Amino acid sequence: MEYNIALVKGDGIGPEIVDGAVTVLEKVGEKFGHTFHFTSYLAGGCAIDATGVPLPPETVEGCLASDSVLLGAVGGPKWDTLPGDIRPEKALLGLRAKLGLYTNLRPARLYPALAGKCPLRAETVAEGFDLLMVRELTGGIYFGDRGRRDGKYGPEAYDTEAYSVMEIERIAHVAFSAARKRNHKVISVDKANVLETSRLWRETVHRVAEQYPDVTVQDMLVDNAAMQLVRWPAQFDVIVTTNMFGDILSDEASQITGSIGLLPSASLGDGTRGLYEPIHGSAPDIAGTGKANPIATILSAAMMLRYSFDLPEEAACIEAAVDKALDDGCRTADIAAPGDGILNCAGMVQAILDRI
Ligand code: IPM
Ligand code: MG
Repeated sequence: MEYNIALVKGDGIGPEIVDGAVTVLEKVGEKFGHTFHFTSYLAGGCAIDATGVPLPPETVEGCLASDSVLLGAVGGPKWDTLPGDIRPEKALLGLRAKLGLYTNLRPARLYPALAGKCPLRAETVAEGFDLLMVRELTGGIYFGDRGRRDGKYGPEAYDTEAYSVMEIERIAHVAFSAARKRNHKVISVDKANVLETSRLWRETVHRVAEQYPDVTVQDMLVDNAAMQLVRWPAQFDVIVTTNMFGDILSDEASQITGSIGLLPSASLGDGTRGLYEPIHGSAPDIAGTGKANPIATILSAAMMLRYSFDLPEEAACIEAAVDKALDDGCRTADIAAPGDGILNCAGMVQAILDRI
């Protein structure tokens, strides 16, 4: 088969890690007889520099015309002081919205080979953990009404959280369907003791749950969820939550795997086109030094094969190569223990290519 993939390399370490993932896709293509055509588009800080806007219309059109999108990361200190609507991050939010990608899947698991890098005590992660964060991605406070105004105490700013029943229902269906393919357990995270949107969230999730009698559902307040993730991560199977809570909890979940450089993500809508990106940022401090870990992006490419192209065997081949590389002791700086030999980004890519 032939597939058209839009590449949005972005800023900082984005180009290095995406280039690495591209070589992995090419190798898998050769092995399984697929051809991937890649076209690069600008978004983020590099797009601001080249065109004046973070998300040029050609990028949106190119992504819409592609079968799927692989993204590196956007942003950096150079663009940090720009006004909100022309910040690099706006490109990411714009792409998610324009492509209708309301589901964000963020799996996090403990690699036995990296257990020593987990900051939790050995007995806390003795059972390991393997969870899937299902984050709502195109609603909530990220996209609600916002602005500046004169308030009671003078100038103030506001952002608003709004969720419709429809938005909650569709993400709940994603979570329950995913749980059916895993351990049949959904924990819905909200702040229903305070927020009205959370009360609607909870009611709606429970109504959807009735259609999935084989899946258990449990509510958890977000502050408790933040604590439970470091207290007993093995209790989680599928977590479903709002855009902002998912943003925060997925960074926490990544850290207990040992490094944020390991976590991939898939952003999906109703069709098969998705946007795949590591959950980490552009890491401007290490850009160009070769210290970036390409694994999160390579695993994101594997998720693309699985979710957008329905190529589970090819995806599993990449995942197995990553597992093998880690089992064999291949380490980038972020996952190295004292005394380990350290591979740079290209070295880790090569180690994975060698195992495909
Ligand atoms: C993420 C990032 C983004 C988000 C930023 C860069 C807008 O933190 O994908 O988790 O908040 O969604
Ligand atoms: Mg984030």
